[in-house]
Amino acid sequence: MANPVRVTVTGAAGQIGYALLFRIASGEMLGKDVAIELQLLEIPPAMDALRGVVMELEDCAFPLVKKVVATDVVEEAFEGSECALLVGSRPRGPGMERKDLLEANGAIFTVQGKALSDHADRNVKVLVVGNPANTNCFIAMNSAPNLSAANFSAMTRLDQNRAVAQLANKTSSAVEDIKDLAIWGNHSATMFPNLYEAKVGGKSATDIVDQSWYEDQFLPAIQQRGAAIISARGSSSAASAANAAIEHMHDWVHGTDEITSMAIPSEGQYGITEGLIFSYPVRIIDNEIRVESGISLNEFAAGRIKVTENELLEERDAVAPLLN
Ligand code: NAD
Ligand code: LMR
Repeated sequence: MANPVRVTVTGAAGQIGYALLFRIASGEMLGKDVAIELQLLEIPPAMDALRGVVMELEDCAFPLVKKVVATDVVEEAFEGSECALLVGSRPRGPGMERKDLLEANGAIFTVQGKALSDHADRNVKVLVVGNPANTNCFIAMNSAPNLSAANFSAMTRLDQNRAVAQLANKTSSAVEDIKDLAIWGNHSATMFPNLYEAKVGGKSATDIVDQSWYEDQFLPAIQQRGAAIISARGSSSAASAANAAIEHMHDWVHGTDEITSMAIPSEGQYGITEGLIFSYPVRIIDNEIRVESGISLNEFAAGRIKVTENELLEERDAVAPLLN
């Protein structure tokens, strides 16, 4: 067996952490034959809870887990890290938008970006889950001068999974028959799930569902799904978020020929402002995230994409003081 892969999880004693760690430890993210060392970060008041989680990890006697570090020292958590899942941050409550968390959470990502820059493996794959995920990722990337933009991503896989499930339900198809359904833009109420490219059993999705269902039901349902879960559960999605994080990292590490959604630093594709962390349809080929090219965007799609880009520009401007 090769050297263990160092995997950092921040916010490891939180809800998502609890749904995530045991699946990572059993090999679902990196592979059933890949040994790992877990480097778990929490804030001091949560260290007791984290010790409990570590005890439970021990009690699973996972063969792949060679070491577990539990720490509240950010540099220690990112030392040599090859996969970093940045979950730790406050979740929103009822009535809030995710961007309302910027003030509470933004500063976490300057500190963690710098620690990644100074301590992580040069090829570290960073996935930001903590909200507002795109702009937190933007902050981390811009706080990490020694890393490349290609090290950074934020999560929109949960939104994609939600969209796939809703479209499968509407068309009475199996989820595996839904292809090429990607999320564009921000993980927020402006995100744009693009049905024009999506296929249901090989047929164009927009030939099967009508535009009014798309605009009046599907879009708002996907954009507001996180809020609907908060209102029903009293706290934000956790198991489905952990599942999406595992799928995102799995595909990034192992590659995928299928279109999937990842929020990554824009290089200006489809006219999006360079440097924004923007969700695109991507494939991962030869260890590289490649934005799907040649997609034609009709007026409706282009308009929605502009709205979500504008929101990201506003968030970028709002966090500028953190980056000076
Ligand atoms: P939670 O409150 O249960 O857990 C968060 C944990 O992070 C807590 O244990 C807290 O002590 C810890 N934490 C806070 N600041 C930290 C720091 N500076 N360093 C390390 N740890 C820190 O919340 P949760 O339900 O696990 O959600 C975590 C985040 O993920 C929230 O911001 C939530 O909105 C977000 N989220 C994102 C998506 C997505 O699709 N991108 C989906 C679900 C949740
Ligand atoms: C989600 O989409 O479930 C998360 O981003 C949590 C939230 O605040 O909606």
